Amino acid sequence: MTAKQAIRTIQKKFDINAIFARRVFSLADKSNLIDDSARIIAEKPKPFVKWVGGKRQLLGQFKIMNFYPPECFDPTKNSYFEPFVGGGAVFFDLLPEEGSLSDLNKELVITYNVVKNNLEKLIVSLKKHKTDKKYFLKIRAQDPNRLSDVAVASRFIFLNRTCFNGMYRVNSMGGFNVPFGRYSKPLICDEDNLLKVSKALQNIDIKHQDYKEVLKKAKKGDFIYFDPPYYPVSKTASFTSYTTETFLDKEQVELRDTFIELNKRGCFVMLSNSDTPFINKIYSGIKGVRVNKVQAGRAINSDGSGRGKITEVLITNY
Ligand SMILES: C[S@@+](CC[C@H](N)C(=O)[O-])C[C@H]1O[C@@H](n2cnc3c(N)ncnc32)[C@H](O)[C@@H]1O
Repeated sequence: MTAKQAIRTIQKKFDINAIFARRVFSLADKSNLIDDSARIIAEKPKPFVKWVGGKRQLLGQFKIMNFYPPECFDPTKNSYFEPFVGGGAVFFDLLPEEGSLSDLNKELVITYNVVKNNLEKLIVSLKKHKTDKKYFLKIRAQDPNRLSDVAVASRFIFLNRTCFNGMYRVNSMGGFNVPFGRYSKPLICDEDNLLKVSKALQNIDIKHQDYKEVLKKAKKGDFIYFDPPYYPVSKTASFTSYTTETFLDKEQVELRDTFIELNKRGCFVMLSNSDTPFINKIYSGIKGVRVNKVQAGRAINSDGSGRGKITEVLITNY
């Protein structure tokens, strides 16, 4: 069996994507390929933060639609970029050996880098947290700009695990303002998963920057997944406060222009957004670009009134 055939076999047998299958093959003991692949797959890390707009529940549909990941993308020769990484559901699914993750949420990016580079200290700190409301309010009131990176990461994970719905929302001053979540036993220090995540991040570049920076690095053949704050489906359904910046019409058009630039360069580009007339309009009529519809059952409003099956779009140039 050639390496290509073996990767295909692993991909089919375990129903995993081609990029991860390639990684599993490169790590597996070739004399015991199937059993060793099963062991490696069982060790796969999961996203370590809950993130509103996370793509975990859509990955199955992406795969069925056959657009994910692009078949011609070769992770041994080209790079993966995820410039709106959030909880990183797609990154943790693909698990490329090297790549570039970024986000404009500074505390999130510090947290990724601490998990990557300073995990032991982070685990010691995470184990010290308490889970009552008074303690939550004390930690929430801390100014992250005055904390060490380890303390920022520890506070970030603690708040993510104990606040209402694991949301991240800041007020106009950038202060975290999500209320206490009343979970009976939140798992604040998932040591086992954090260790796996840390390993998976070792060859990954993680930066606090605007998504447009991707234009400085991306080359022909690279794969870029954009998962921006969604264009609101209605005036009341807006949720764009991951950072203090807004992401509305002007920003969506600028992102579309970035998509077009990467398309011209010969990159593979995939972009998620809401299935709204505005988004359909700005991506229509671009040569080689397809607007595919994906069924999604996601909550948009924190009060639950926006729950229910809605469609989203997955825009691809391949
Ligand atoms: C829909 S979420 C991404 C969710 C992610 N794909 C997941 O699975 O968890 C959008 C992300 O974009 C980030 N963001 C907003 N504006 C940005 C910008 N101009 N450049 C880079 N990241 C930005 C937010 O901080 C947020 O994490």
